[in-house]
Amino acid sequence: MDRVPSAAKGSREAFLAHAGELPCAAPQPPRVLVIDDNVALAENVCELLGALEDPRVVCDVVGSGGAALSLAEQYAIDVAFVDLHLPDTAGTDLSDELRRRCPFIEIVIITGDTTVQSAIRAVKTGAFAYVLKPFRGDELLETARRALAQAELCREREHLRAELERSEKRHREVVDAVPAFVLALGPDGDIVLWNRHLERVTGYAREEMLGQTGSHLVGDSGAERRLPLRDGGHRLIRWQRAVVSGGATNVSYAVGVDVTEEQAMLRRTLRAERLAAVGTLAAGLAHEVRNPLNSALLQLAVLDRRIYKGHGAEQLLSVSRLVKDEIVRLDRLVSDFLEFARPRPLKLATTSVNELVRGVLELVAVAADEQHVDLKADLGLRVGNISVEPERMRQVLLNLLQNSLDVMPQGGALTVRTHGPDPSGYVHVEVRDTGPGFSEDAPVFDAFYTTKEKGTGLGLAIAHRIVTEHGGQIHVRSTPGDTCFTIALPEQP
Ligand SMILES: Nc1ncnc2c1ncn2[C@@H]1O[C@H](COP(=O)(O)OP(=O)(O)OP(=O)(O)O)[C@@H](O)[C@H]1O
Ligand SMILES: [Mg+2]
Repeated sequence: MDRVPSAAKGSREAFLAHAGELPCAAPQPPRVLVIDDNVALAENVCELLGALEDPRVVCDVVGSGGAALSLAEQYAIDVAFVDLHLPDTAGTDLSDELRRRCPFIEIVIITGDTTVQSAIRAVKTGAFAYVLKPFRGDELLETARRALAQAELCREREHLRAELERSEKRHREVVDAVPAFVLALGPDGDIVLWNRHLERVTGYAREEMLGQTGSHLVGDSGAERRLPLRDGGHRLIRWQRAVVSGGATNVSYAVGVDVTEEQAMLRRTLRAERLAAVGTLAAGLAHEVRNPLNSALLQLAVLDRRIYKGHGAEQLLSVSRLVKDEIVRLDRLVSDFLEFARPRPLKLATTSVNELVRGVLELVAVAADEQHVDLKADLGLRVGNISVEPERMRQVLLNLLQNSLDVMPQGGALTVRTHGPDPSGYVHVEVRDTGPGFSEDAPVFDAFYTTKEKGTGLGLAIAHRIVTEHGGQIHVRSTPGDTCFTIALPEQP
């Protein structure tokens, strides 16, 4: 046991080191201070304490209250043996002063006074124990042991409390430092946490928001909600939520990111895309309209010339027929375009897939026969019904069949196959021909894409739209001699 006072330390530092606030400070040895004007007796006590098991314990001796306080200013004392009657102060007053300086100190009163009053006085000061002079060595040792253990416990408790406080503070700092909105709602939906980012952006201070109802501010996970701002206006926030069950209370945390700019940009992009699409459509339409118009104008010029030259009725009529054809073509183009650009709502009806296919096959049978196209149907027995607008679906199939016939003027094979439903509940209709096909990058579903002299290029664009509107998909695979369009539609059980 060391009896020399350790290097002087400020009491604040000592306190912080004891409380664990200075993580790098070396742990202080347990310190005992014996305060008695009878120095011989005090030294005696110190010597007895040398028998303590803990070799780190440092014991100091002082003869007055003043000297004791000046030591307490320098370092934290764990246990003080205080004589009740000191030359410069009463032991009870000194105890209070010592506690003020060393919050974890345990006081053991030493007194020769055996009256009940003195014992009561000692207990009232909050002393850990008191020993009577003359004392027995083993009694004193036992008291010191218990007092040191008690001081150690207090110090540990304080250390844990400080650690907890620091950890909470760190978490608060993280929550405040992240550039995201962090909000927590209590079980009643009241705001229990409102981080600094929220304060900064909304202009609403934490103090005024805590306790307010906050459920309306955050929706379900992934939902976007308007966050009102103090100076008017709002921001659009996408929230993610997490419920944390801690003890009896459930706190729901929500972390939000500002998607105001993102949404605005998305809207701008969509608008720009729509405008671009309208531009492409308009250009395509103008091009398609010009062809029959030019052709009609040319024919009218021919007609003029023939009238001047006094041609016969038949020669004049042949020209006017051509003009009429071009006008009919123009009319079809406009109708198709309107259908594409302004789709009407669907009038759904339960329809048998195979019957629908049979009906369309009948419509093209004669044309196929004339072209020497071998028209075949391979209709699956389990294929049931679909919920579609029959007229529109007929239009889709008719366009596919007509396209196939168009590319096989010298004959070939055209097969319509139905099968399904597949495990996902879709029925499939395949239209397959042995025509020349098209290259992979041909934009066959784009409006106005056509390779035909008199085609509008709207047939497949309309087909694509109709199938998608019915909740289905249309795909194509094409190689020379084998082109297959597949339509998948949800089966109606
Ligand atoms: N079965 C097919 N084989 C080869 N090419 C095809 C086939 N089906 C479509 N195409 C190509 O896709 C283009 C676009 O077809 P789409 O049905 O949209 O318009 P179109 O047939 O040209 O005109 P419209 O349908 O107005 O008569 C066709 O011009 C053709 O080049
Ligand atoms: Mg077509």
